[in-house]
Amino acid sequence: MSAPNIETIVSLAKRRGFVFPSSEIYGGLGSAWDYGQLGVELCNNVKQAWWRWMVYERDDMEGLDSSIILNRLVWKYSGHEDTFSDPLVDCRECKTRLRADKLTDGKCPNCGSKELTEPRPFNLMFRTHVGATAEDDESSLVYLRPETAQGIFINFANVLTTSRRKLPFGVAQIGKSFRNEVTPGNFIFRTREFEQMEMEYFVRPGEDEQAHQEWIDNCFGWFTDLGISKENLRLYEQPKEELAHYAKRTVDIQYRFFPEREEEARQWDELMGIANRTDFDLRTHSKKPEDAEGKRLNPDSTEDLSYFDEATKERFYPYVIEPAAGVNRTVLAVLMDAYTEKTNDKGEKRVILKLHPDLAPIKVAVLPLAKNKPEIVALAKTIKHLLQPAMRAVYDDTGGIGKLYARQDEIGTPFCVTVDHQSLEDEAVTVRDRDTWAQERVKVADLQEHLLKRLGE
Ligand code: GAP
Repeated sequence: MSAPNIETIVSLAKRRGFVFPSSEIYGGLGSAWDYGQLGVELCNNVKQAWWRWMVYERDDMEGLDSSIILNRLVWKYSGHEDTFSDPLVDCRECKTRLRADKLTDGKCPNCGSKELTEPRPFNLMFRTHVGATAEDDESSLVYLRPETAQGIFINFANVLTTSRRKLPFGVAQIGKSFRNEVTPGNFIFRTREFEQMEMEYFVRPGEDEQAHQEWIDNCFGWFTDLGISKENLRLYEQPKEELAHYAKRTVDIQYRFFPEREEEARQWDELMGIANRTDFDLRTHSKKPEDAEGKRLNPDSTEDLSYFDEATKERFYPYVIEPAAGVNRTVLAVLMDAYTEKTNDKGEKRVILKLHPDLAPIKVAVLPLAKNKPEIVALAKTIKHLLQPAMRAVYDDTGGIGKLYARQDEIGTPFCVTVDHQSLEDEAVTVRDRDTWAQERVKVADLQEHLLKRLGE
């Protein structure tokens, strides 16, 4: 089967309750999406898998949850007020607004006109005002954060002192970010409100390049461990002219989000960026930046974010390696990669979402073979209740067994448990595997342990 495109996933996502167009009953809101009953579970599972891997399974990591609205000075000194913009052009014919850097042949993709305005910078940060002040009161102006990273830098000294960490160590954070993108689109790939999973890893200058490479390899491995196939992932070295103002080197992990595009190079786009941010951020937010030319002098900060190495008696600004991934893009990649089709004995096409068990929104569905038999229904409900403290379990009796299996396959549930007439006698049930459709008989008393083992818990 050829790889599914985003449209296939949009349709599945809406049909089954993963993702809905936001504000739909009022005509929607451009590229805003709501996560439904299955989508919220999938997002939570992606975030949990990342947090477990990034924070719990390491010895050198702390977590953080900083505010979305920060002091405006954070964005002044981070450079975002001046430079976090896209080059904007207007089509003089049809008035469409476009990103100049995304125009491949200098023509408006909407009407084909070459009559475009000169590019001008458009700052992507959403503006709002704190407190009961007038809209035009500049002193109350704040931004919704465009990245979670800055919340980590401004808390560097807090985490360092309270955790008693020594270099190297990292601080991880998951949370919403906001960018007033000029051209959002492609479903949840590029939206104005999205969620990031970012980690800032602080190292001694000089140890940054090796740490950077290690994180690139680690992160690539994380995606393949989640079940994303290597063929659909690749590394992309950002050329100098693409680098953000703070970066010495950035390598993106790209996913083949657009397999339908003819030109191979255009099939890929960013899933995660892994940047070497040098000591730019800690320096720029420091009270005493110690810049020989006095360039990044910061009279507003009250803190020096340098690090004192007790062993060598040296003081310096740590370098930072930053793996930054999007929750939503990970969800999209995971859905695209898990999507398969299979034909059953009757020649009917079935969709099977082969999600990694850790990510599957529902781990087990308990199904009664006959819903008009009260004893079978009661036993199935009892089994669902027995399982639910240990795993996300559902009960469903709203169709024939074939239909119920098909529904669970389509949403990626790894196991179905069927309760039948025989179960009332032998206290055993049938466990059906999503990927192979193989069935085995398991005693109810052993069921939880059996499922947990097969789920890899
Ligand atoms: N702190 C660095 C940083 O924010 P980025 O490459 O701009 O780097 C990191 O963003 C990740 O956040 C991207 O790889 C992508 O997965 C996600 N992301 C960025 N902008 C997004 C958007 N408009 N919609 C959805 N995800 C986005």
